[in-house]
Amino acid sequence: MPPEPIKRSRALLPLSREHHVDLLLAWKIRKGLNNHAEYQRMADYVKYLEENLINEHFDDEEKLLFDLLPEEDKMCGNARKEHKQIRYLITEICDKKNYDNSLFRQLADLVEAHVRYEERALFPYLEARLPEQKLEEVAKILTEKHDVFNDIWQDTFWID
Ligand SMILES: [Fe+2]
Ligand SMILES: [Fe+2]
Repeated sequence: MPPEPIKRSRALLPLSREHHVDLLLAWKIRKGLNNHAEYQRMADYVKYLEENLINEHFDDEEKLLFDLLPEEDKMCGNARKEHKQIRYLITEICDKKNYDNSLFRQLADLVEAHVRYEERALFPYLEARLPEQKLEEVAKILTEKHDVFNDIWQDTFWID
Protein backbone atom coordinates (compact mmCIF):
# COMPACT_ATOMS: atom_id res chain seq x y z
CA MET A 1 0.00 0.00 0.00
CA PRO A 2 1.34 3.45 -0.83
CA PRO A 3 2.09 5.66 2.15
CA GLU A 4 -0.73 7.85 3.35
CA PRO A 5 -0.60 11.32 1.82
CA ILE A 6 0.75 13.77 4.33
CA LYS A 7 -1.89 15.92 5.93
CA ARG A 8 -1.38 19.59 6.57
CA SER A 9 -2.21 19.07 10.19
CA ARG A 10 0.91 16.90 10.38
CA ALA A 11 3.29 18.62 7.94
CA LEU A 12 2.82 22.09 9.34
CA LEU A 13 1.80 21.08 12.84
CA PRO A 14 4.88 22.55 14.57
CA LEU A 15 4.04 25.95 13.08
CA SER A 16 0.35 25.65 13.93
CA ARG A 17 1.27 24.84 17.52
CA GLU A 18 3.27 28.06 17.67
CA HIS A 19 0.33 29.96 16.20
CA HIS A 20 -1.52 29.05 19.34
CA VAL A 21 1.19 30.83 21.37
CA ASP A 22 0.76 33.87 19.09
CA LEU A 23 -2.98 33.92 19.70
CA LEU A 24 -2.31 33.73 23.42
CA LEU A 25 0.07 36.67 23.07
CA ALA A 26 -2.70 38.76 21.48
CA TRP A 27 -5.04 37.77 24.31
CA LYS A 28 -2.45 38.57 26.99
CA ILE A 29 -1.69 41.98 25.50
CA ARG A 30 -5.39 42.88 25.44
CA LYS A 31 -5.80 41.71 29.01
CA GLY A 32 -2.73 43.71 30.02
CA LEU A 33 -4.10 46.85 28.37
CA ASN A 34 -7.45 46.41 30.09
CA ASN A 35 -5.68 45.96 33.44
CA HIS A 36 -3.46 49.00 32.83
CA ALA A 37 -0.38 46.83 33.11
CA GLU A 38 2.89 48.72 33.06
CA TYR A 39 4.21 49.29 29.53
CA GLN A 40 7.65 47.84 30.26
CA ARG A 41 6.28 44.59 31.67
CA MET A 42 4.36 43.93 28.48
CA ALA A 43 7.27 45.05 26.30
CA ASP A 44 9.61 42.64 28.10
CA TYR A 45 7.31 39.72 27.37
CA VAL A 46 6.97 40.70 23.72
CA LYS A 47 10.78 40.77 23.48
CA TYR A 48 11.04 37.37 25.15
CA LEU A 49 8.62 35.83 22.65
CA GLU A 50 10.31 37.55 19.73
CA GLU A 51 13.70 36.16 20.66
CA ASN A 52 12.54 32.70 21.63
CA LEU A 53 9.79 31.99 19.14
CA ILE A 54 8.72 34.64 16.65
CA ASN A 55 12.06 35.31 14.92
CA GLU A 56 12.73 31.69 14.14
CA HIS A 57 9.10 31.02 13.24
CA PHE A 58 9.03 33.86 10.68
CA ASP A 59 12.47 32.99 9.29
CA ASP A 60 11.55 29.34 8.82
CA GLU A 61 8.22 30.13 7.20
CA GLU A 62 9.98 32.41 4.76
CA LYS A 63 13.00 30.19 4.02
CA LEU A 64 11.44 26.73 4.21
CA LEU A 65 8.04 27.48 2.70
CA PHE A 66 7.54 30.84 0.99
CA ASP A 67 10.86 30.60 -0.87
CA LEU A 68 9.61 27.43 -2.58
CA LEU A 69 7.12 29.48 -4.59
CA PRO A 70 8.00 32.15 -7.18
CA GLU A 71 9.01 35.50 -5.76
CA GLU A 72 5.94 37.20 -7.23
CA ASP A 73 3.51 34.87 -5.45
CA LYS A 74 0.90 37.17 -3.91
CA MET A 75 -0.23 34.87 -1.11
CA CYS A 76 3.30 34.51 0.24
CA GLY A 77 3.98 38.17 -0.49
CA ASN A 78 1.12 39.12 1.83
CA ALA A 79 2.54 37.03 4.63
CA ARG A 80 6.04 38.48 4.16
CA LYS A 81 4.56 41.97 4.33
CA GLU A 82 2.76 41.12 7.55
CA HIS A 83 5.97 39.70 9.04
CA LYS A 84 7.66 43.02 8.29
CA GLN A 85 4.83 44.98 9.91
CA ILE A 86 4.90 42.79 13.02
CA ARG A 87 8.70 43.09 13.28
CA TYR A 88 8.39 46.85 12.85
CA LEU A 89 5.86 47.12 15.69
CA ILE A 90 8.00 44.96 17.96
CA THR A 91 11.02 47.19 17.28
CA GLU A 92 8.96 50.29 18.04
CA ILE A 93 7.71 48.80 21.30
CA CYS A 94 10.82 47.05 22.58
CA ASP A 95 13.81 48.88 21.19
CA LYS A 96 12.66 52.43 20.55
CA LYS A 97 10.64 52.52 23.76
CA ASN A 98 7.92 54.40 22.03
CA TYR A 99 5.57 54.60 25.01
CA ASP A 100 2.34 54.45 23.08
CA ASN A 101 -0.24 51.89 24.14
CA SER A 102 -1.89 51.91 20.72
CA LEU A 103 1.18 50.04 19.42
CA PHE A 104 0.24 47.10 21.64
CA ARG A 105 -3.31 47.20 20.33
CA GLN A 106 -2.01 47.19 16.76
CA LEU A 107 0.38 44.35 17.51
CA ALA A 108 -2.35 42.18 19.04
CA ASP A 109 -4.68 42.81 16.09
CA LEU A 110 -2.00 42.18 13.50
CA VAL A 111 -0.63 39.01 15.11
CA GLU A 112 -4.12 37.58 15.37
CA ALA A 113 -5.04 38.49 11.78
CA HIS A 114 -1.75 37.04 10.52
CA VAL A 115 -2.29 33.71 12.28
CA ARG A 116 -5.85 33.48 10.95
CA TYR A 117 -4.60 34.25 7.44
CA GLU A 118 -1.95 31.55 7.56
CA GLU A 119 -4.19 28.91 9.10
CA ARG A 120 -7.25 29.56 6.93
CA ALA A 121 -5.77 30.65 3.62
CA LEU A 122 -2.01 30.39 3.21
CA PHE A 123 -1.25 26.97 4.68
CA PRO A 124 -4.05 25.20 2.74
CA TYR A 125 -2.82 27.03 -0.37
CA LEU A 126 0.80 25.94 0.21
CA GLU A 127 -0.27 22.41 0.89
CA ALA A 128 -2.16 22.29 -2.39
CA ARG A 129 0.72 23.73 -4.39
CA LEU A 130 3.77 22.02 -2.90
CA PRO A 131 4.65 18.50 -4.00
CA GLU A 132 4.09 15.74 -1.48
CA GLN A 133 7.80 14.98 -1.20
CA LYS A 134 8.69 18.60 -0.56
CA LEU A 135 6.09 18.77 2.22
CA GLU A 136 7.60 15.64 3.76
CA GLU A 137 11.04 17.27 3.76
CA VAL A 138 9.74 20.46 5.32
CA ALA A 139 7.79 18.50 7.91
CA LYS A 140 10.94 16.69 8.96
CA ILE A 141 12.95 19.88 9.43
CA LEU A 142 10.09 21.61 11.26
CA THR A 143 9.65 18.68 13.62
CA GLU A 144 13.35 18.70 14.46
CA LYS A 145 13.65 22.45 14.92
CA HIS A 146 10.32 23.38 16.49
CA ASP A 147 9.80 21.43 19.64
CA VAL A 148 6.77 22.24 21.80
CA PHE A 149 7.41 25.75 23.09
CA ASN A 150 7.90 25.91 26.82
CA ASP A 151 6.92 29.37 27.98
CA ILE A 152 8.85 30.02 31.18
CA TRP A 153 7.89 33.70 31.53
CA GLN A 154 6.95 34.36 35.16
CA ASP A 155 5.70 37.93 35.16
CA THR A 156 2.01 37.34 34.45
CA PHE A 157 0.96 40.91 33.67
CA TRP A 158 -2.23 39.56 32.03
CA ILE A 159 -3.49 38.35 35.41
CA ASP A 160 -2.29 40.94 37.88
FE1 LIG B 1 3.88 33.99 9.46
FE1 LIG C 1 3.11 31.52 11.19
